[in-house]
Amino acid sequence: MNIFPTKAAVAGALAAEIAQRIAQAGATDFHLALAGGSTPAALYDALALSTTNWARVHLWWSDERCVPPDNSQSNYGMVKKHLLDKIGIPSANIHRMRGELEASEACRACVHELERAFPLVVPKFDLILLGLGEDGHTASIFPQNIALFDSEEFCVVAEHPESGQKRLSFTGKIINSARTVVFLIAGESKASRLLEVLRAEGADAHLPAARVQPAEGELLFFLDQEAASGL
Ligand code: 6PG
Repeated sequence: MNIFPTKAAVAGALAAEIAQRIAQAGATDFHLALAGGSTPAALYDALALSTTNWARVHLWWSDERCVPPDNSQSNYGMVKKHLLDKIGIPSANIHRMRGELEASEACRACVHELERAFPLVVPKFDLILLGLGEDGHTASIFPQNIALFDSEEFCVVAEHPESGQKRLSFTGKIINSARTVVFLIAGESKASRLLEVLRAEGADAHLPAARVQPAEGELLFFLDQEAASGL
């Protein structure tokens, strides 16, 4: 558990950790899947200030809302504002999920791009960043349809249980194949659910976030004091 006094401190520490791992990768490609939502914005601002050489970094998204990239709900749009517009990264290295397409078509496009980047194998990401929803969801796998986490597919079409908004999401097949998975969690509102997730860990857990169990990789938590208050 990496616990820091404030959300800004978590963002700064995790940005340094990610920048260090990218630097250690040297001349090899580094595949990084980004989380959406609001918490990671401060992380992306901090990453934009790092001295990272983005030439060999490939940015993906662990999930996306089925909206155009310029929509205020777009996870790509959020990353563009807080990171992409501030750094120099080859456009070919940006592998956004195409939220503007019809959902199943966008899903197929994502799988096609994954198969091009990781031919003939299950994609093995260097680092996948995830958030935790107050209901225990992660990426866009919600408790109401937790079976999607265990899909044989790399990417699935999901639906927000309240808004009905269609989503695209990586599944456990990709998430649990990563070398490193990092949960970035902040705020008092996540504290009790985080405790439940940690206690429920396992393949049959009823919360999607609790099924994140990298088979060979490491699972890290970067928390602020408020999110960690129940630990
Ligand atoms: C999304 C995210 C989602 C998010 C959690 C936490 O598309 O919304 O990928 O899984 O990480 O809902 O969101 P907050 O950081 O806004 O609390």
